[in-house]
Formats: sequence, structure tokens, C-alpha cells
Amino acid sequence: MPLILPLIHFFNAGDGMLLSGKVSDQAMQNPQVLAALQDKIDSVSHSASIMDSLPKSVKRRVNALKNLQVNSTHIEAKFYKEVHELERKYSALYQPLFDKRRNIVSGEVEPTDEECEWQSDHEDEAALAEDLKKKAAIEEKKEDANEEKPKGVPEFWLTIFRSVDMLSDMLQEHDEPILKHLQDIKVIFSGPDQPMSFTLEFHFEPNEYFTNTVLTKVYKMKSEPDAEDPFSFEGPEIIDCDGCQIDWHKGKDVTVKTIKKKQKHKGRGTARVITKQVPNDSFFNFFNPIKVSPDKELDEDSEYTLATDFEIGHFFRERIVPRAVLYFTGEALEDDESSNSVFCDDEEEGDSKVSVNLDHN
Ligand SMILES: *[C@@H]1O[C@H](CO)[C@@H](O)[C@H](O)[C@H]1NC(C)=O
Ligand SMILES: *[C@@H]1O[C@H](CO)[C@@H](O)[C@H](O)[C@H]1NC(C)=O
Repeated sequence: MPLILPLIHFFNAGDGMLLSGKVSDQAMQNPQVLAALQDKIDSVSHSASIMDSLPKSVKRRVNALKNLQVNSTHIEAKFYKEVHELERKYSALYQPLFDKRRNIVSGEVEPTDEECEWQSDHEDEAALAEDLKKKAAIEEKKEDANEEKPKGVPEFWLTIFRSVDMLSDMLQEHDEPILKHLQDIKVIFSGPDQPMSFTLEFHFEPNEYFTNTVLTKVYKMKSEPDAEDPFSFEGPEIIDCDGCQIDWHKGKDVTVKTIKKKQKHKGRGTARVITKQVPNDSFFNFFNPIKVSPDKELDEDSEYTLATDFEIGHFFRERIVPRAVLYFTGEALEDDESSNSVFCDDEEEGDSKVSVNLDHN
């Protein structure tokens, strides 16, 4: 048991997964990328000079040690496969709680008084008894006067989108009314005989924007040491993702905008107005990610967009879905700040989460 604990902690911290991508020529002009490359070259030449200084017989044995190290990476890969299995197994235990959460959020189920007891409410009550009594009287009146009583927890997920920086960066004003219809986000792990992946499912109530009830995003992972560079293996990496088609109702697609363009007829000199659809900023572009292709290099912008996307997918899986209510109340945001969140750590370490793979092909 004591051996397992630090490892579990490792995963909770969200560090157990790397994100990889390819680097373009433009990225090679990026000082950070160049520095990473220089480090690599330095360490390679450093190890070369150590090896050179060794007697032949010792060098031979060090090579044997390195081969053992390669064997270790394969055992490590197996370890991560079992961790994935364990996560899959435990997700089944969490699921009934997540289902209950969804039912309360959507208003399908009204929790009992007992289920609504919360300890700190008592303390607050004692301290603010008088104040509360007055307030409660006013509140009750308000609710009575207000014909439309709130159903479930209105704007539960939208509130989370607004308060988590990484998500609010993507959120546009025109996305908000749509996300009011979001009722649940689920994480589904790939099965034991499938390539390692996880799927985010966004469940919507019927709405006037699109006909889908579920929007999906699949994150594919690689959990094998690279044959060419086995020592770089540090656990599962997200390597690719797939979105889904959104069947927008006519005129409701917020991911495109229609622009009018004047077009002159050369011969006659008359002008006519044509309309053209161009991409528009929207969270819903999340379901139409950039495709990684083995024979096409991504430019720097795409590289960055994809790395951010992978990071968001990871954050949904590790943080938001397991502890949604704490992001709704803001408690998880405080935790992230005070405990130096995965993201702060990353920025300091530079390469712990979004690793650029310079050795690609
Ligand atoms: C290391 O792996 C190689 C190749 O799979 C295998 O032949 C060898 O027996 C392994 N060595 C040990 C000590 O397990
Ligand atoms: C496109 O984006 C702009 C600015 O965010 C927004 O005002 C507009 O409503 C969007 N267009 C559509 C069709 O959603």
C-alpha cells in the first residue's frame, strides 16, 4: 500500500500524461523549442564524452545496463495499461454518483431534505440566524411571486465554463445560450482490447440549435515506448483527437458566419453582392479539431491549438468531470491556485505536460 500511494497521487496531479505533437520549421524559430533542442544536443554530447572516457570492457557493460533500461520502459508501459484498466474499473463505481448528479442538475430528481443537509450551513445559520430569517422570508416571497421557479441547478455547466480560464478563453457570447442546455459531461474509457483512448460525451437536452443529443470528442493515446527513443517514455500521451458532426438547425450554426461581399462583373462593370460562409470563433469548434496526419507537418499555430486542445481534454477528464460541483461553487478554483495547479507546475517545468516531440520521423 505505501508504495502505491505516491503513484496514485502522481495521477491525481494530472501529470501522468504527456501531450505530443510534431514540430514544424517555424516552431524551430521558437526560442523555447530551440532551447529544448539545445539541451538535448548538450545531454547527448555529454553522455557521449562520458562513454568515450570509459575502458572498453566497462563501456560494454554500460551498454548492457542500457538494454536493461529499455526492458524497464516496457514494464512501465504495462504498468500504465493496468492503471488505465483500474481507471476503467473505478469509473463504473463513480458512475451511479455522476448519474445522480446529472438528475439533480437537470431537475429530474428533487433531492430529499436529508440529502441536502450540509454541515457548514449550520455554522452559518448560527452566526447569521437573525439575518437569515429575514432574508429567508424575503426569498420565499420572491420565489412565490416569481412564476418560473428554477429547475434543478440552472446553468450548472455554463457557470463552470465561465469560471475555468481554459474554457472561458474559448467561450463566446453566442455559445452561452447553447451551453445552458448542456446537462452532463461524461468520460468513457476505452475497453481492454481497444487502443487506449478516452471519450468526452457532452449530453444536451433537446434545444433549438442542433438535433444531436450527445456531442463527442475522442482522445487517442499512445502508451508504448518509442522504438527509436525508448528513454523518453514517461507514460501515456495524447496523440490525436476526433470530434463529431454537429447537425445544426438552419441558421443556428455559431461556428460559421455569413459575410456579404461585393463582386464586380468585369465586363459590364455592374456589381452584385454574394454571401460567403467563413469560420467564426466558438467553443463548438472544439468538436472540429485539427487533424494530425503522418505526412503533413503542422504549422506553429496549429501545433499550439492542438496542444491546447489536448490539455483541455485532459483537464475535463482529470478535474472537471470528477469534481464538477466544486468548479461550480469555485472551491476547486481556489484549490488549483493554492496548491499550485497542474498548469502552474507545467509553466515552471516547461515540458512536463505539453512535450514537443522533436524526434518525430
Ligand atoms: C530484455 O528484452 C529483450 C527483448 O525483448 C529480451 O530478449 C531479454 O530477455 C530481456 N532481458 C531481461 C533481463 O528480461
Ligand atoms: C460570430 O462571432 C461574432 C463575434 O463573436 C458574434 O457577434 C456573431 O454572433 C457570430 N456569428 C454567428 C453567426 O454566430
